[in-house]
Amino acid sequence: MKPVLVSGMQPTGRLHIGNYLGALRNFVDLQNSGDYRCYFFLADLHALTEGPDPKTLEANIVNLAADYLAAGLDPGKVIIFQQSQIPAHSELAWILNTITPMGELERMTQYKDKAARAAANVNAGLFGYPVLMAADIILYDAAVVPVGDDQLQHLELTRTLARKFNARFGRTFVEPKGLLTKTPRVMSLKDPLRKMSKSEPESCLFLDDEPEEIRRKIARAVTDSGTSVEYDPERRPGLANLLELYGAITHMDPATVAKEFAGEPYSALKTRLAEAIAEHLSDFRKRKKALLAKPGAIMKIVDAGSKKAAAIAEKKIALVKKKAGL
Ligand code: TRP
Repeated sequence: MKPVLVSGMQPTGRLHIGNYLGALRNFVDLQNSGDYRCYFFLADLHALTEGPDPKTLEANIVNLAADYLAAGLDPGKVIIFQQSQIPAHSELAWILNTITPMGELERMTQYKDKAARAAANVNAGLFGYPVLMAADIILYDAAVVPVGDDQLQHLELTRTLARKFNARFGRTFVEPKGLLTKTPRVMSLKDPLRKMSKSEPESCLFLDDEPEEIRRKIARAVTDSGTSVEYDPERRPGLANLLELYGAITHMDPATVAKEFAGEPYSALKTRLAEAIAEHLSDFRKRKKALLAKPGAIMKIVDAGSKKAAAIAEKKIALVKKKAGL
């Protein structure tokens, strides 16, 4: 049997090019490798920790499912599902909560960052977020979890919890390994020292931006007062970000991209980068528009995937309860 691979994204708004290069494109490549039994889900229970408006959350769920499908995830090859449709995620998270030391959660840097930023909405769900994530993964006996480096600490906790449960109740769970993507962090177009973020739309390239918007935003991207195109992330971070983006889209390394543009003005790089991105995403945009014209059909696919995932999850949670004496 092929190893199981599980990953998910939160339906918290429009995806940008960083989410695509760092996660979604990788999901599609992993699917097409044929090396894994893949489960890709919509982490809507996780999204609740941000306190979204219900109508917005509902729309974001459909939108993220459309992103998955438009990017090339194929329900004939992988299982695409919605976390909240499968009660076993919440049940297992509760059981894992009871073996999770408070100290482990207090150490989580993502929690500390979020708590510092969102002082008004530091709910217990934000604190327990990594436990639910562990449940998402070990419920399916995942061996492999593609994640960004910001999630590695959560994955380490997942391994710890699997090990602890096994030690206490007998061998039940697989300890998963993280699969890191090589993609560089995509930085803000206006402030290349900060990560690209959807909260600043003018510094952010959304996946479904029209070519005209992509061109406009890249034309206004911050560079520096130099004139020669060179790859120097330390001293010329804005230019480096554009070279890295170009490299990620065209599968070239950024230093090679810089050589290709040597002697040309920054504007040439910007124009060609905008063209490369618009072109790379052109099928995606078309497919996504067609999908969103029929939101009911999108959710049918998700519902069918959720039924398949539920069948597997229910067996596992029954075993877990038995082991724990419930
Ligand atoms: N926390 C992940 C993120 O923000 C999303 C996520 C939730 C996830 N559960 C998961 C990713 C399980 C991989 C596996 O990116």
